[in-house]
Amino acid sequence: MYRLIYVSSVRPHVGVLEVEQIVDVARDRNADRDLTGLLIYDGKRFLQYLEGEEAKVEAVFERIAEDERHYALVVLARGDVQRRQFPDWAMASRNVDDGDTLTMAVARMVQGCDEHVAAELIGFAEAREKAA
Ligand SMILES: Cc1cc2nc3c(=O)[nH]c(=O)nc-3n(C[C@H](O)[C@H](O)[C@H](O)COP(=O)(O)O)c2cc1C
Repeated sequence: MYRLIYVSSVRPHVGVLEVEQIVDVARDRNADRDLTGLLIYDGKRFLQYLEGEEAKVEAVFERIAEDERHYALVVLARGDVQRRQFPDWAMASRNVDDGDTLTMAVARMVQGCDEHVAAELIGFAEAREKAA
């Protein structure tokens, strides 16, 4: 199993409805490619976890990286891992509620994950919040 995790900044004109569209498209296309993962949106940033066959993950990521709805992508991790973490989610998504933090949203979404993966994702979210 191969996974890629990145964060990016959302273009200002992109709102919640457009993010929902992105997720709908991502779900269909990822299901066709046996890709799964997680997308978290806090109004300013995306944090995405993509997993599957390496060539498929990298091919989708290449397109995502060219998508003009976000910019300043930073890959936080990419490489082989022991197992799939989000088997049930072609692309789970969460819009962070008002008053909620990115870290809190991530913590809720990773409850079924391996402990080290959960810790890694929460750590990334915390670091992003400090940097923001
Ligand atoms: C933050 C973000 C996450 C995305 N995640 C996915 C994804 O997981 N899978 C996917 O197929 N497309 C995803 N997309 C959409 C792709 O960038 C692209 O628009 C879509 O795959 C259609 O590609 P095409 O127009 O080249 O056919 C995402 C876009 C953004 C901005």
